[in-house]
Amino acid sequence: MPLVTTKQMLKAALEGHFAVGAFNANNMEMVQAIVEAATEERAPVILQVSQGAIRYAGLSFAAGIVKIAAANTDVPVALHLDHGTDFDQNVLCLREGFTSLMFDGSSLPLEENIAISKRICEIAHICGIPVETELGKVLKRGATPEEIEDAMAKPEDAKRFIAETGADSLAVAIGSVHALLSQGAGLDIERLKAIHAAIPETPLVLHGSSGVLEESIVEAMNYGIAKINVATYLSQAFTFAMFDHLKAHPDDEDPRKHLAAGREAAKERVREKIRLFRSNGTITSSGSFKSPPTHHRVADIGEPE
Ligand code: G3H
Ligand code: ZN
Repeated sequence: MPLVTTKQMLKAALEGHFAVGAFNANNMEMVQAIVEAATEERAPVILQVSQGAIRYAGLSFAAGIVKIAAANTDVPVALHLDHGTDFDQNVLCLREGFTSLMFDGSSLPLEENIAISKRICEIAHICGIPVETELGKVLKRGATPEEIEDAMAKPEDAKRFIAETGADSLAVAIGSVHALLSQGAGLDIERLKAIHAAIPETPLVLHGSSGVLEESIVEAMNYGIAKINVATYLSQAFTFAMFDHLKAHPDDEDPRKHLAAGREAAKERVREKIRLFRSNGTITSSGSFKSPPTHHRVADIGEPE
């Protein structure tokens, strides 16, 4: 089916207490791995392209392969700009047919973040495209506990931020860190609860999920987390599987064989995350969302369905 926006899928996730996986796609094999896993799991999926991926592949290639993958599946696929730190980049992605944008103004003073987020939302909304913004700053591997704490989103800013920007979803810094190589980070669930209580209608986004403990992820979906970004966990699987294959077949000059090993490994990790996020089985055989939403708070039902 053609690309869809993130609007309906995040609303369904918020209401159903599951999360849509937003997976970073840097090449054709990663795109295939993500869409194949989502199709088999009957899950909506977001393929996101970072500014680095755009520099690597070129904007039209990066967007083009996702559009082709979407056209060849019957589950909803959205094409999202991940961490667009630049106004112009957002506009260029809008023109390229992205169905979801992100303005990441987390390095800016709050007022400036609000002002640019608002401008992008106004333009994107004219085209019917939703925008994710960021409150607080999700830092990178290497940040100290004090730095992580200082950069967290302030619940008291959430309501004003959404009211003034008109943003459709909000990435919140609540303790995760980008690019961790193993799971060890817990989330500040009390902070998340306060943010969710302030803006209950706004889907919240968890960045840096590769390093977050599974139990924290499951709990976070009870308090507004409706989109979860995954990059490092997939890249690790892809790269190491490719490397192992190359080591086992050092004389095989066909890059497709090595890339296919990476693709298979990444696909299994996407499947694992989709099941953890409980978005599996939420899409019918005709490609629409099951209604009412399939899943409920974990606390209400024990195990996910
Ligand atoms: O925006 C992308 C992410 O937040 C992914 O973070 O590489 O730690 O999974 P990660
Ligand atoms: Zn991120």
